[in-house]
Amino acid sequence: MGRLDRIAELKRSKNAVILAHNYQVPEVQDAADFVGDSLELSRKAAGLEADTIVFCGVRFMAETAAVLAPDKTVLLPEVEAGCPMADMINARELRTWKAGYPGLKVVCYVNTSAEVKAESDICCTSSNAAAVVKSLGVDKLLFVPDKNLAAYVARQTGKAIIAWDGYCYVHHRFTPGDIEAARASHPAAEVWVHPECPLDVIDAADKALSTGQMVAEARKTTKPEIVVGTETGIIYRLAKENPAVAFYPARETALCVHMKMTTLDKVLRALETGTHRIVVPPDIADRARGAIQAMLDIS
Ligand code: 13P
Ligand code: SF4
Repeated sequence: MGRLDRIAELKRSKNAVILAHNYQVPEVQDAADFVGDSLELSRKAAGLEADTIVFCGVRFMAETAAVLAPDKTVLLPEVEAGCPMADMINARELRTWKAGYPGLKVVCYVNTSAEVKAESDICCTSSNAAAVVKSLGVDKLLFVPDKNLAAYVARQTGKAIIAWDGYCYVHHRFTPGDIEAARASHPAAEVWVHPECPLDVIDAADKALSTGQMVAEARKTTKPEIVVGTETGIIYRLAKENPAVAFYPARETALCVHMKMTTLDKVLRALETGTHRIVVPPDIADRARGAIQAMLDIS
């Protein structure tokens, strides 16, 4: 029996569902029941009937699923798949930092551990960050951990945002020079970048979009060519769904090694052995759920 047949059989017998982020490798995206961005995957995890969720992404995503679906078994096929940006702040650091700003609300990007979410007022993703910030009805707030997303949202909303000094190493490395070079190579192309990129890169591009927004925009575009300034894994999905459009990476080397750690073999192993189960302690999960649910309620 082939790996895909074995996976299908195990999914049936364990009443399992496979969720995958848009940056996952092609064989994992193809094996998944649902592929999406951080917000879509959170919503999906919250509404599933399944007993087991195999989460093909990085740890904070599996933790979010475990928080939203505490009665389900959430498996992360590769236990080392973390997010270096999420690891740039822990709960103790956030407690100390926010104590210096009494009365200010804390918005945490979904790319954080459950314990950091538990210390925050509301969560956001790159799809809904501006809406979340506006929903607070305050002029000044704290934002963790992505300083690039914070700067972009501050400009979109006109709010004073004090940001933690974190960033995604994949998106932070893009430069306006990458965008200029891509435009020179593909003069007919529109350029899309992710809001985790620095502001000068966003300004050099035509649109700033979350990965889910890129998927939606690709279905509507009339452009023959698109340059994509994000982790290159998304190009597989964009090209597969839109064969008439040519997609080019703004930089070939924009790869998140953690997103690439999950393979079909590890997905199969996860289903066979029940590894690696992600469990969030109930006291932390309850408080983290408050921040995540606050986000889901407004978006
Ligand atoms: P989105 O898929 O929500 O745009 O997030 C990108 C990302 O960096 C996830 O790690
Ligand atoms: Fe974290 Fe960036 Fe990798 Fe996303 S792409 S998991 S934000 S390091």
